Amino acid sequence: MDSPPSGPVAPAAVPPRPPGETVVPRDLDVFFAANRARIERELFEFLRIPSVSARPEHSADTARAAEWVAGALRTVGLQAELVQTPGHPIVLGEWRGAGPDRPTLLIYGHYDVQPAEPLELWTSPAFEPTVRDGKVFARGAVDDKGQVFLHIKALEAHLRVRGRLPVNIIMLIEGEEEVGSTHLGDFVRANTDRLRCDAVIISDSSMFAPGIPSILSSLRGLTYLEITVDGPAHDLHSGMYGGGVINPATALAHMLTTLHDDAGHVAIPGFYDAVRPWSPDVLDRMRELPFQEEVFRAETGAPALGGEAGYTTLERIWTRPTCEINGLLSGYTGEGAKTVLPARAMAKVSCRLVPDQDPHTIERLIEEHLARVARPGVRVTVKHLHGGRPWRADLEGPIFDAARRALAAAFRRETVIMGEGGSIPVVADFVDALAVPVLLMGFGLPGENAHAPDEWMSVENFELGMRAVATLFDLV
Ligand code: BES
Ligand code: ZN
Repeated sequence: MDSPPSGPVAPAAVPPRPPGETVVPRDLDVFFAANRARIERELFEFLRIPSVSARPEHSADTARAAEWVAGALRTVGLQAELVQTPGHPIVLGEWRGAGPDRPTLLIYGHYDVQPAEPLELWTSPAFEPTVRDGKVFARGAVDDKGQVFLHIKALEAHLRVRGRLPVNIIMLIEGEEEVGSTHLGDFVRANTDRLRCDAVIISDSSMFAPGIPSILSSLRGLTYLEITVDGPAHDLHSGMYGGGVINPATALAHMLTTLHDDAGHVAIPGFYDAVRPWSPDVLDRMRELPFQEEVFRAETGAPALGGEAGYTTLERIWTRPTCEINGLLSGYTGEGAKTVLPARAMAKVSCRLVPDQDPHTIERLIEEHLARVARPGVRVTVKHLHGGRPWRADLEGPIFDAARRALAAAFRRETVIMGEGGSIPVVADFVDALAVPVLLMGFGLPGENAHAPDEWMSVENFELGMRAVATLFDLV
């Protein structure tokens, strides 16, 4: 990595502000402006590493990304080590120079990324970061390398400009988030002394809309299953055998149609039993957000929006559990026709969960349901892939006040509180094991194509995100 330039730098032009308003500290703002090109080069180096945690052929790259993060932390002035797990390593960085009387913040993120396929749908290659229209395009640009990196640069700004940080810092950057954080929960539970902190800070989510800084009040949980239906020992001629043998694809299709009723409710008995009602306050706040159905629809490209009857789109995504088919595989799918009765059919099904649904209980309910509705003549196997618990915050306490002020200083706009439909499995583990508040302030944007081709992060949000985080350290 290059060393930062030294010498005088031109201060960035900042418009006048009303007296008393919190601002991004001038010295840090100047540092970010002066180091912009170098910071971008370093980010690109990180984004070029194809750290796809799901793919064994990328495990050396994933290990290289872990080393890269540890190196970046050391360059900035933290102590850093790799903690090996049966899966991908955890990067643990520390700076405790603020002393025991000052707060300790634990910053969590992940250096692993989703697979980039289908590669042909990328405008520029997934692991060759490219800036177009003020956006950095690359796999991991926003989920989560860009957001991890802006935290590292916020630490750097303090340490370079002032020689110290006003808070103690623990960095916990894992490499298995995109595959369900398999080993992180155990690590957190086994290391509560070392990870003891006053708050956890995470940037692995998105803002409500461009220019509107956002703090998350909830995440959904997840349970992910693979359902296999086996019939005949091998594919059969559909004329010679069809009608006389149960077709596994038809049997699976039947089972899948029993997952919902006609109003879009999940029809698995017991599925909603543990759902805790949302407070009227939260629902009111949600209705006040400037949500535009049509903009949201256009973003999806779907001909119309739809879902569970009786709920608005935001309520469906943020406050209601779902059961979705994520993948289907069976029979002949090549060109033209082939008259065949397939031997096997497979579906990937995942449920997003809300408090207090438990991933294991839901998994059991689904298995029982499938066993009930399966027709004789096929064998059904259900394999658990991964899961995570849902989370809901109360957003009380000094860390949230500081975050609102820091975000307002950087973005020059009031912060909104929003829900979230995605999952970050370790959040519930942090709450249980460390008993601390978790601040989720993400700098992604709607339409950022996370997990899809042409993933991007807004350059402006990267810049403002660094400033918000650096300002936050001063305010806690
Ligand atoms: N960054 C996301 C979580 C997220 C998604 C936050 C959307 C805000 C909006 C994270 O990397 C992710 O993709 N999580 C997975 C978890 C799963 C693999 C256990 C998810 O939500 O599918
Ligand atoms: Zn992700």
